[in-house]
Amino acid sequence: MPIPLIAGNWKMNTTVREAGILAAAVKDAVAGVSGVDVVLCPPFISMAEVAKAVEGSPIQVGAQNMHYEDKGAFTGEVSPAMLQGLCRYVIVGHSERRRDFAESDELVNRKARKALESGLKPIICVGEVLEERQQGREESVVSTSVAGCLEGIDSPENLVVAYEPVWAIGTGLSATSDQAQAMAALIRRLLTDRFGQGGAASVPVLYGGSVNSDNVAELAAQPDIDGALVGGASLNVDQFADIVRITTRVRTSS
Ligand code: PGA
Repeated sequence: MPIPLIAGNWKMNTTVREAGILAAAVKDAVAGVSGVDVVLCPPFISMAEVAKAVEGSPIQVGAQNMHYEDKGAFTGEVSPAMLQGLCRYVIVGHSERRRDFAESDELVNRKARKALESGLKPIICVGEVLEERQQGREESVVSTSVAGCLEGIDSPENLVVAYEPVWAIGTGLSATSDQAQAMAALIRRLLTDRFGQGGAASVPVLYGGSVNSDNVAELAAQPDIDGALVGGASLNVDQFADIVRITTRVRTSS
């Protein structure tokens, strides 16, 4: 089992000052908690501030996105070369980027491959929309997406996959632990087909979508769920610290 991972995706929230304050508060709140990797993903312009605030703690910094080129005429974009040294993780293919910026599996794959080449750990997000689930197509949608996002990636090292059903993101309506486990198990099987059992077992598979301190215990207790990608609740220090603590407690007792 990989070490559980809790990543906070702050999305387009916090000023630079607020981000520094929030990160410092998280650092204090989770000090002494072990057996879990904690990653904070603030907006790009706050990454240096957050890195400074968590210095000396095991908390890692992540980016919410990146371009697949190191430099060039890409107005408004941030490159992997710019992220090197500033963070260890990068979220790619979040559903909000797929929805608002038309990111395809092919583009997500380019970003994931480039992240790996650059020594960054991509958190690859996949998940079905409500209509697809209502039609019973969630497994085929996620299988296609995982295959597309992992195209040409031949090592499981440094990979993280997050199952994030789009209908559960920001809605307060989390997937049930059974639904989340079923999809995480599917992702694990797909990883096993590609990397073998040992390889697949080393990849943290996260669940994301309305995770909070009330539902995380049941989610983290599932055999194929290795942590969470947390949006809204990651902006609340107490909630986020509880999520971290509960995850490590559940995982160390299972
Ligand atoms: P949420 O967001 O926790 O606010 O649902 C999760 C995500 O978008 O990663």
